Amino acid sequence: MKKVRKAVIPAAGFGTRFLPATKAQPKEMLPIVDTPTIQYIVQEAIDSGIEDILIITGRNKRAIEDHFDTSVELEQLLQQQGKKQHLDMVRNLANIKVHYIRQKSARGLGDAIYCAKSFIGDEPFAVLLGDDVVYNTHTPCLKQLIDCHYAHDGVTILGTQFVAPEKVSSYGIVSGREIEPNVYEVAGLVEKPPLEYAPSNLAVLGRYILTPDIFDELEKTPQGAGNEIQLTDAIARLSSRILAYSYEGVRYDIGDRLGYLKATVEYGLRNPQLAEAFKNYLQELDIDAVMNES
Ligand code: UTP
Repeated sequence: MKKVRKAVIPAAGFGTRFLPATKAQPKEMLPIVDTPTIQYIVQEAIDSGIEDILIITGRNKRAIEDHFDTSVELEQLLQQQGKKQHLDMVRNLANIKVHYIRQKSARGLGDAIYCAKSFIGDEPFAVLLGDDVVYNTHTPCLKQLIDCHYAHDGVTILGTQFVAPEKVSSYGIVSGREIEPNVYEVAGLVEKPPLEYAPSNLAVLGRYILTPDIFDELEKTPQGAGNEIQLTDAIARLSSRILAYSYEGVRYDIGDRLGYLKATVEYGLRNPQLAEAFKNYLQELDIDAVMNES
């Protein structure tokens, strides 16, 4: 069985749900406490054993490339100021092996993944959405999916979690049956179904292990929901076996304002330098008084 060595992070979307913040800067660079969203995702890929990362970028996404590039002036300044910890941090970032391809226009997630075809070649690969962060204390989310892929003959794995009924119309939804704890044999997939047509509330959330036959399907997939080329539609067309894996971890949708706020609060409370002061602040906050100010 081939190793999962490569990961694709699509980050070329417009981020319209987060305007005006995303008018001139990528939503994938929105900081959670002090670290850009995409850095958490790149780190998850590295911690899961990924060796090569391809980021799909587009217009207004230069900040992502700058973030993982060398910054000579900044390094010199930090050296002069004796800020060794910060210097190591920026040097480590520049050492991460990241490649880039531009998606010419944001025609949908499926089209973004198709841009990775020549980079991937003929091997299985991981996809991590550039605005989905998953917090884990034990096994990184992507590693859980990779382990499931190896345990089941290298088939396609969809990273999933159960969502509240009112959320099913926001996601790709799986129909299938559980074949072992947390693993589902996928019988069908539907993108953003209205609640009354949803086959379950098991939603595809931001992580995938795909096999290279996906590219043939992507090539033939017409526009779907939202007039975009949907990755879910291409996966649903695959004739090869598909499993859904219900992963462990707290998942945050950073492209959604409420998801971003939740991530900021919870990562703030997990941060050893901030936790105590932030907890005190939250406990003393007169929430109703603040809300009445608006
Ligand atoms: P989203 O649907 O969450 O991103 O795609 P979006 O289209 O930017 O969001 P809104 O709805 O306008 O706010 C999930 C991921 O796929 C990327 C996005 O950048 C995001 O990381 N994506 C989406 C692409 O790379 N290309 C696309 O054409 C669409």
